[in-house]
Amino acid sequence: MEQIIKFKLNRRPVSITVDGDRMLLWVLRTDFGLTGAKYGCGEGFCGSCTVLVDGQAVRSCQTPVKAVQGREVITIEGLARNGKLHPLQEAFMKHDAMQCGFCTPGMILNAYSLLRKNNKLSVEQIKAGMEDNLCRCGAHPRIVEAILDAAAQMKGGKRR
Ligand code: FES
Ligand code: FES
Repeated sequence: MEQIIKFKLNRRPVSITVDGDRMLLWVLRTDFGLTGAKYGCGEGFCGSCTVLVDGQAVRSCQTPVKAVQGREVITIEGLARNGKLHPLQEAFMKHDAMQCGFCTPGMILNAYSLLRKNNKLSVEQIKAGMEDNLCRCGAHPRIVEAILDAAAQMKGGKRR
């Protein structure tokens, strides 16, 4: 059923009339033109569609848009602030933590969600927290390095 959904998208209020059961991934990609969140499996297994809802990583392919009514959604397009990349984005570039890049937005946003809860994660905790985000290119070792580096940069909680 069509309904009006209002939420914050990358820090701006948005409103859209849409079938509330439509998945957030398609609303972001098709209706808002934000193609950073990727369609991988469409079944909640790969994490390539990950976005933040109120700072928590969620799989947008499994999230009906009505679930974000009144909430804040951040996609990879909204992670940089005032023209400055987030430390995770910088660290992924510095460590070359990608090959094709398809998994990268989901990786970065899942890592953001992990570090938001605890930026003193051990290597093992990072691996455990990231293991449900899949990378077909095998960039995982460099991804873990990048997250460790970003965590070091973020200590003190200066950036959200
Ligand atoms: S596309 Fe959503 S988890 Fe794979
Ligand atoms: S960099 Fe290609 S899927 Fe991860």
